[in-house]
Amino acid sequence: MTTQSNKNIVIGISGGIAAYKSAQLVRGLIKRGITVRVCMTPAALQFMTPLTFQALSGHPVHTDLLNPDAEAGMGHIALARWADLVVIAPASADLMARLSMGLANDLLSTLCLATTAPVHLAPAMNHRMWSHLATQANLNTLIQRGVIIHEPEIGQQACGEVGMGRMLAPDDILKQCLKALQPRKQGVLQGKQVLLTAGPTREAIDPVRYISNRSSGKMGYSIARAARDLGAKVTIVSGPVALRAPQKVTVVSVESAAEMHQATLDYAASADIFIATAAVSDFSTEDVFSKKIKKSGDCLTLELKQNADILYDTSHQYPQLFSVGFAAETDNLMVYARDKLQRKKLDMIVANPVGEGKGFDQATNQLEIIWKEGHLSLPEKDKQTLAHELMAIIVEHYNRLNS
Ligand code: CTP
Repeated sequence: MTTQSNKNIVIGISGGIAAYKSAQLVRGLIKRGITVRVCMTPAALQFMTPLTFQALSGHPVHTDLLNPDAEAGMGHIALARWADLVVIAPASADLMARLSMGLANDLLSTLCLATTAPVHLAPAMNHRMWSHLATQANLNTLIQRGVIIHEPEIGQQACGEVGMGRMLAPDDILKQCLKALQPRKQGVLQGKQVLLTAGPTREAIDPVRYISNRSSGKMGYSIARAARDLGAKVTIVSGPVALRAPQKVTVVSVESAAEMHQATLDYAASADIFIATAAVSDFSTEDVFSKKIKKSGDCLTLELKQNADILYDTSHQYPQLFSVGFAAETDNLMVYARDKLQRKKLDMIVANPVGEGKGFDQATNQLEIIWKEGHLSLPEKDKQTLAHELMAIIVEHYNRLNS
């Protein structure tokens, strides 16, 4: 059993039926030698009594912001300073909305504003409330601010419905808390900046139509997470995707190839490693129609012009960058990939077969990693595992070049 004595955690409890599960979380933390103070919102008091958490934590429970007696013991600022970690489980939709707005209208939200400790949330709510655009927008704001989310699970909910929104099991929250309290190991990419392009681009035809492709952005976002986990400061210049921004990664949203080109060149100036995973549209319309095109006749002819090659321009303008390209091919994989490696002046190219249900918008991928003197195959796996393996290979080659 991992123990973490000398560490202080504030467990915040907001209003939700999952509040009873937090008793197990508090118990688990105490068993591992962690000092726990519990802070309950007024709504949480409707579900559990402070006495339960006082008995489990061995300390009075904090409930009031403006109560002179309570504040005399350990006031909200002292509590905020005291915490090495603040974990809110369950985090209700209402609490997330208040935190995203920066409100300080009860003790728990005030404490979150006042603390410099990492804040973790374990959301729990009805699945429709979880997927509501308002909740998802609040979630994204909190993630961008560095709040760590313990994603809820799919399952039977207390309301009888089935869906995503059930609070993660207390043991799993506990594991993540213990990990967060461990001293950080220096990542191998600490101090380095990794820039990625990801997703498709959209080339407007008229105000309602565009040319695009099937790229989901999953591979690029997975590589971004892997680079972040190695300690790098990561930026994704991303086309339109239905993916949530990875935590602690900057996402610069663009639409067209021209916008992606401009943003990439801007960010490349300070980057060390550049990985082009985007499926950039090779062509855009010569002129974008200002009004919706109406049907006239049996066919429509569009004049297309070739877009600038983002990867080519970036690797030539910034030769000091370690540049990695992707080549999605339906045939002649190795031949086309080697040609792109040389033509685009790359340090490495990652080729993957597409078509016949492979590659685009799939959960798995299979990669051929090619550099000037060699080649390595990574057999079919889920994209996140592949991303970690690929990043390890990129780092090895990057270090060899820069040592
Ligand atoms: N790429 C880019 N800008 C473009 C086209 C491609 O940055 N306008 C990048 C992709 O992100 C990828 C690599 O170049 O990393 C190869 O992309 P791919 O579409 O396979 O190659 P193309 O150069 O477009 O060649 P072709 O379409 O003829 O295969």
